[in-house]
Amino acid sequence: MPNPTVTAEAAGIQIPLLGFGTWQLEPDDARRMVRTALEIGYRHIDTAWIYKNEQAVGEGIRDSGVPRDEIFLTTKIWVAHFADGDLQRQAEESATSLGTVPDLLLLHWPKREPAMQETVRALNDARARGLTRHIGLSNFPSAAFEEAQGYSDAPLITNQVEHHPYLSNRPLIETARTLGSTLTAWSPLAQGQIADDATLIEIGKAHGKTPGQVTLRWLVQQGIIAIPRTQKENRARENFDIWDFQLSGDEMQRISGLARPDGRIGDWLDPAFQWDAAA
Ligand SMILES: NC(=O)c1ccc[n+]([C@@H]2O[C@H](COP(=O)([O-])OP(=O)(O)OC[C@H]3O[C@@H](n4cnc5c(N)ncnc54)[C@H](OP(=O)(O)O)[C@@H]3O)[C@@H](O)[C@H]2O)c1
Repeated sequence: MPNPTVTAEAAGIQIPLLGFGTWQLEPDDARRMVRTALEIGYRHIDTAWIYKNEQAVGEGIRDSGVPRDEIFLTTKIWVAHFADGDLQRQAEESATSLGTVPDLLLLHWPKREPAMQETVRALNDARARGLTRHIGLSNFPSAAFEEAQGYSDAPLITNQVEHHPYLSNRPLIETARTLGSTLTAWSPLAQGQIADDATLIEIGKAHGKTPGQVTLRWLVQQGIIAIPRTQKENRARENFDIWDFQLSGDEMQRISGLARPDGRIGDWLDPAFQWDAAA
């Protein structure tokens, strides 16, 4: 049975483990697919100011008729808005475009200018002003994550990073756990690469599941939040249908073993920072 209520927890806050991503969805598709995803049972939606679809995402939420308080909605502060004042202005703009205050506001990518302390304080101020319920990070290596939490009064409840079977993020996962936070996997399907993977196909056959379903199950079974994206209704259903089977310890290990040194797909990390060494 689909179970949208399975959550990860950080600082007492529940985050649905399976969400729906909207990067690269044009406004019409974003509105249609957000409504569709919520009708299917998703209760977690991911967008960002830079995706230029926040207004459509808000419309899709209202079209669905699902009560707002049943939905966990995330958006992100773009790197051009990291100065004190600019950040709060974007937070206000995002809430206005969405037509609702987001549950979670993330810093999209780490940056050295302005100083991280200024940006994290501004993020806390946006929260204190009621422009978001919670705050967090995206694409922060461990050292930057620890530094940011040191500046933050409120808990940073997730670090959203690229994560899928081809990328080992063991140190980042450990850092999130140590800080009492969570990891959210972006590009959880490696942007579709999982579809042709012989190992994932074979494991899927044993369970009557697709490579995409096996991959998402592998993530949520580790307590990692996943936010797959699709513009197709049938795939949105497929990606949500992962609650009626379990991967064995051996299968979990085989999937983790697919990680490779060149597995990263989207790297826009500022050279002032460095990814954790692969474990
Ligand atoms: N914080 C960040 O910096 C950051 C960066 C990137 C992404 N994200 C977030 O993470 C979300 C997901 O990442 P993503 O969009 O890069 O990639 P993804 O979810 O890994 O993959 C999406 C691609 O896979 C295809 N697909 C979907 N379901 C499938 C399935 N069951 N089997 C085979 N192919 C499937 C989709 O094609 P169809 O549409 O044709 O189905 C699409 O081309 C984004 O939408 C965004 O919300 C965040």
